[in-house]
Amino acid sequence: MSQYNNLVFEKNDCIGVLTINRPKVLNALNRETMTELKDLVEKIAFDKDVAVVVITGSGDKSFVAGADISEMRNMSALDAREWGKFSQAVFNSIENLPQPVIAAVNGYALGGGCELAMSCDIRLASEKAKFGQPEVLLGVVPGFAGTQRLPRLIGKGRAKELLFTGDQIGAEEAYRLGLVNRVVPADQLVTVAMEMAKKIMSRGPVAVQLCKAAVNEGLDMDFESGQAYEAEVFGLCFATADQKEGMTAFVEKRKAQFLGK
Ligand code: HXC
Repeated sequence: MSQYNNLVFEKNDCIGVLTINRPKVLNALNRETMTELKDLVEKIAFDKDVAVVVITGSGDKSFVAGADISEMRNMSALDAREWGKFSQAVFNSIENLPQPVIAAVNGYALGGGCELAMSCDIRLASEKAKFGQPEVLLGVVPGFAGTQRLPRLIGKGRAKELLFTGDQIGAEEAYRLGLVNRVVPADQLVTVAMEMAKKIMSRGPVAVQLCKAAVNEGLDMDFESGQAYEAEVFGLCFATADQKEGMTAFVEKRKAQFLGK
């Protein structure tokens, strides 16, 4: 999977590390990068050798500094609409990957970069990370679902302040707002992300994937429908070898050896 111009993808003991790789423009997302991302994410979804995905940015300055402004500058209204829709779908495919996805935010996560991080399941931020939705400074609104994911993550009022001012916030403030799960020293970001990925991998893999599906699907339903969905996936777990192994290992006072089926 090294056929991409703007992405690097490496597998390390069933952890897939996806790096957005356009460091000269702080990893800004142009159409080619987004098309490559679509292709790679489709492949990862069916890759049995990838249990957890870590997404990060190339270099020590930026995760992703947004959509590529030079490329967007002269877009027509209709082209911009299609660019937005296409990219929303790519980020949806990340959010809906069966595997858990951890964003290791190593620097600027602005505009489309913040939106990319929000489409991941868990966000780890380096102390140097900066978050923001600066689109209003460019005369536009966020177009990769920032107006939808940000309020769902941090609440309507806080999201509106960030969206209306376009201000950048540091990692600690992002943590305080609930935008990131954890802040870690810059030189430990990848290590902490890999440790978290390994911990998740050691749990029942089917159960982890079903947890993700239950949260994602349930949040788009009313509470009762979400509970009904949960009951279905809970029942489904009892048709897996992992459930037998997990509960037998507990009773036998040993560590479970999950097979992921
Ligand atoms: C294109 C970008 C870019 C971007 C940085 N660059 N961000 N190019 N699109 N989003 C380029 C710069 O032009 C410059 O190229 C090089 O990367 C280094 O950036 P500098 O600005 O020189 O670095 P610095 O002074 O350290 O400032 C860093 C920064 C700033 C604060 C991150 O680059 C910045 O404000 N970038 C734009 C952030 C932004 O507005 N993002 C939202 C985009 S809109 P050269 O050739 O000069 O070296 C968006 C909407 C999504 O994401 C929805 C669309 C449908």
